[in-house]
Amino acid sequence: MSVPSLDRGQWSGKLGFILAAAGSAIGLGNIWRFPYTAGENGGGAFVLIYLVFVALIGVPVLLAELAIGRKTQRNPVGAFKALVPASWWPLVGGLGVLTGFGILAFYSVVAGWTLGYLFMAVTGALHEATTADVSGTIFTGLVADPLWAIVLSGLFLVLTIVIVRGGVSGGIERATKILMPLLFLILLALAVRATTLPGAVEGIAYLFKPDFSRIDAGVVMAALGQALFSLSLGMGAMITYGSYLPERENMPFAGVSVAIFDTLIAVLAGLIIFPALFAAGGDPSGGPGLVFIVLPTIFNALPGGTVVAIAFYALLAIAALTSTISLLEVVVSYFVDERGWSREKAAWLIGGLCFVLAVPSALSQGAVAALSGGDEGLIAWDFLTLNNNVWGNYSLSIGAILICIFVGWKWGLPNAIASLEASGDRLPAAGAWGVLVKYVCPVVILILLIFIVATGTYF
Ligand code: PFF
Repeated sequence: MSVPSLDRGQWSGKLGFILAAAGSAIGLGNIWRFPYTAGENGGGAFVLIYLVFVALIGVPVLLAELAIGRKTQRNPVGAFKALVPASWWPLVGGLGVLTGFGILAFYSVVAGWTLGYLFMAVTGALHEATTADVSGTIFTGLVADPLWAIVLSGLFLVLTIVIVRGGVSGGIERATKILMPLLFLILLALAVRATTLPGAVEGIAYLFKPDFSRIDAGVVMAALGQALFSLSLGMGAMITYGSYLPERENMPFAGVSVAIFDTLIAVLAGLIIFPALFAAGGDPSGGPGLVFIVLPTIFNALPGGTVVAIAFYALLAIAALTSTISLLEVVVSYFVDERGWSREKAAWLIGGLCFVLAVPSALSQGAVAALSGGDEGLIAWDFLTLNNNVWGNYSLSIGAILICIFVGWKWGLPNAIASLEASGDRLPAAGAWGVLVKYVCPVVILILLIFIVATGTYF
């Protein structure tokens, strides 16, 4: 069945797509979440399992999403509508659009903190973070300050809106073509700096030497959850970005490149953080505070630490920005394609609404007790964590399972392969890909979902 085409913009070519999609994938998940998750789960063993999941689950699901996107050239809802009209499948796309909105509303809060840290690094306020205690106080001072937390996430959303409103090639592609090379450069410079510190070898060993005694179900599931989140899977971000890839471009190559870049950047982030941490005698299992509380003290102990701190938080902000762009774009593409809104109106209205929803998350890190979880909270989780658990855990895994079932069992592998091979380039190991999408991925991700529900462990 052929799908009528809409005039909705395209990437100028393969490179534009790869940079934008890698920009979506590479984010706080790589530089903030991956290192502390690896640290909490024993280092090398976690990293090894993570790599296996990226290859066996991440890449197949990524290609499945891209196939749907390019065939239909639509947002996630329109894509399912175009392929199976008069069915409930478009609801899967609807869940994706909702999830994009939900993730953006808490992701932009943490992204806002990166801007706050960048400001503090530039103004020298971060210099005082010489001990863990002071550093912790600085962190709390930022995230529990209602004004700062709200203003910073609002600022981050405005940056995102301004880029998304510029369109696919004129806004997103143009911005990512500047931001991504900048990100690589900063990352590389920081990795060289960190790995040449005295005592860095221990950190490198921690990242790469697997200690198999650390592996249990929790470590395996954390690796899988991290792989899905890091590759931006399960909510149609890759359906949307794939929908702007011209037919002439080699899609399997572009998709695999995105996964490789994403993984490389996560490992490089680990190569910055662990050597620096071990050189300073820090604890790798510091949890979510790792990059905001532990790192500033380490930067302050380094010669030229101010420059390193500025570079690091700029890196974090850039990585977050190219991801928030894709989160907003999923929702915007729905309103542009399906509701006929102008891109300008969609970007501002949805971005604005997202800001409203981001406020309770911004206030949930100590500013307002009722939203901050624990004994005084309305519920046990703080609002930011609640959003992460609902959208980042349940919704992404449910979405990824349904997308695999759709491609494997409803739309059919031959159709998906035809879409992936539309440029005339072959999908390598197409048979294996089919088995993975049809059987392995849905079952393995279902196990993750059951694990999350049964144990109450969230990632
Ligand atoms: N992949 C992003 C990260 O690792 O930070 C997060 C993300 C972006 C998830 C876009 C989902 C998405 F659609």
